[in-house]
Amino acid sequence: MSLTEEIARRRTFAIISHPDAGKTTLTEKLLLFGGAIHIAGAVKSNKIKKTATSDWMEIEKQRGISVATSVMGFNYGDYKINILDTPGHQDFAEDTYRTLTAVDSVIIVVDVAKGVEQQTRKLMEVCRMRNTPVIIFVNKLDREGRDPFEILDELESELKIKVRPLSWPINIGAKFKGVYNIYEHSLDLFTPNKQKVSERVEISSLDDPRIDESVGETDAAKLREDLELIEGVYPEFDEQAYLAGEVAPVFFGSALNTFGVKELLDCFVRIAPSPRPVTTEERVVNPDEEGFSGFVFKIHANMDPNHRSCIAFVKICSGKFERNAGYKHVRSGKVMKFAAPTAFMAQKKSIVDEAYPGDIVGIPDTGNFKIGDTLTSGELLHFKGLPSFSPEMFKYIENTDPMKSKQLEKGIQQLMDEGVAQLFINQFNGRKLIGTVGQLQFEVIQYRLLHEYGAQCRWEPISLYKACWIESDDAEALAAFKKRKHQFMAVDREGRDVFLADSGYVLTMAQQDFPKIRFHFSSEF
Ligand code: G4P
Repeated sequence: MSLTEEIARRRTFAIISHPDAGKTTLTEKLLLFGGAIHIAGAVKSNKIKKTATSDWMEIEKQRGISVATSVMGFNYGDYKINILDTPGHQDFAEDTYRTLTAVDSVIIVVDVAKGVEQQTRKLMEVCRMRNTPVIIFVNKLDREGRDPFEILDELESELKIKVRPLSWPINIGAKFKGVYNIYEHSLDLFTPNKQKVSERVEISSLDDPRIDESVGETDAAKLREDLELIEGVYPEFDEQAYLAGEVAPVFFGSALNTFGVKELLDCFVRIAPSPRPVTTEERVVNPDEEGFSGFVFKIHANMDPNHRSCIAFVKICSGKFERNAGYKHVRSGKVMKFAAPTAFMAQKKSIVDEAYPGDIVGIPDTGNFKIGDTLTSGELLHFKGLPSFSPEMFKYIENTDPMKSKQLEKGIQQLMDEGVAQLFINQFNGRKLIGTVGQLQFEVIQYRLLHEYGAQCRWEPISLYKACWIESDDAEALAAFKKRKHQFMAVDREGRDVFLADSGYVLTMAQQDFPKIRFHFSSEF
């Protein structure tokens, strides 16, 4: 197969949802259809058990197990599908954001009873920033829930994207009878069964009497009425608008009952994009270029304290990746050879000889890689689009073992390279400040510093609302701001100016009082 053909058949995506909407269940059913697993319940995904929310050791253990399921690759028909898993726990939201930079599209799962929830809203913001194409799956139709029209309105207003239903439910909850597939003009009848695929009735048009025979006259009449309304309200599905991230097709179903999942998958492989051109600081890189390029979007640490090894996850952006080929690590300028890169197929990790754009390879690493690093055949490229977001929790980190300050320094640097948290230096008192998106990260850092680096630290609380990056074209205005706020100025690891706002009010006032200063809430601007 040629490089172009290999690229065209790849679909790399993530499933995102608020915890409990059904992401794990849907992932598992997709793997079942792909033949990657044979029984339901086989997926040990990144899902973190609810009981373990306060016990991060347990969470890390579960995350450790889930390295193999971080990427799930399988073939479906002529397509090669790569599902990138994202952690369910919101304290690891940063991980999820970064994973979203490595996908070409996403499927969002929404619970029909709960509608759009907080985590979904946040993740959608990241998709919107990148114009990622989005398909929405409204799940749990077998349970009582909200009116589908109401759900569509909520999706549009809360996720700030136009929607277009491509399937439509016939009742929900106890009376749920099935979905009408608008995209393929067929009727899928629901039978509550976890393993069996539903019965399908092919119909010629909406007037087909087989609809009445299958669901009864009353429901058939309601279906026709609903569909008429849909055709009147929502414009025809426009594939280009979907690919541009402007409209999201919506499917209804029940992941647990394997209902509506195959329809979703069939439509997904047809319309979802294959790997797209990627922007670097230097130029746009097309996937079908001969030269290899890729970037590190995730580093998974080994929890075994005797091996400070990690796996760097590289998304291939262009060309063909070959084992032992020798690629340039752009940040260090070194040429590196990878003897044991792994691919992720059907939940198994195995050494891979070659891989193509859209694929993810895992590279065993002992601290050479940093999130965002670029590998190429030789060209100096820097991929864009791996922002860090303004952290919202802060603590000063203090060394409690003066004999081990070097170890502490090294440990902090490496953990920051892995993207566990962000380090700032307070310019007023020179102290190191760690910013995270979740409380758990502080425990993770303290534990890992001790067990992997032999360094001890303690945390000192500081009450801050947000850290944001500032810049201005007016040097005088910038200097004036820094002077006025000198007690609240810090620098990040790249030496860029960061303002530490201690309340939302202070931040709003600062934005008002200093119109020449630009405030940024993600590190990429
Ligand atoms: P998540 O990864 O998004 O967090 O959600 P997950 O798939 O684990 O699903 C959350 C719960 O919702 C699970 O129940 C799952 O069985 C259930 N669920 C998923 N899809 C459907 C559906 O279509 N209909 C119904 N009725 N339930 C669904 P649980 O009791 O929390 O876990 P488990 O003990 O069943 O594993």
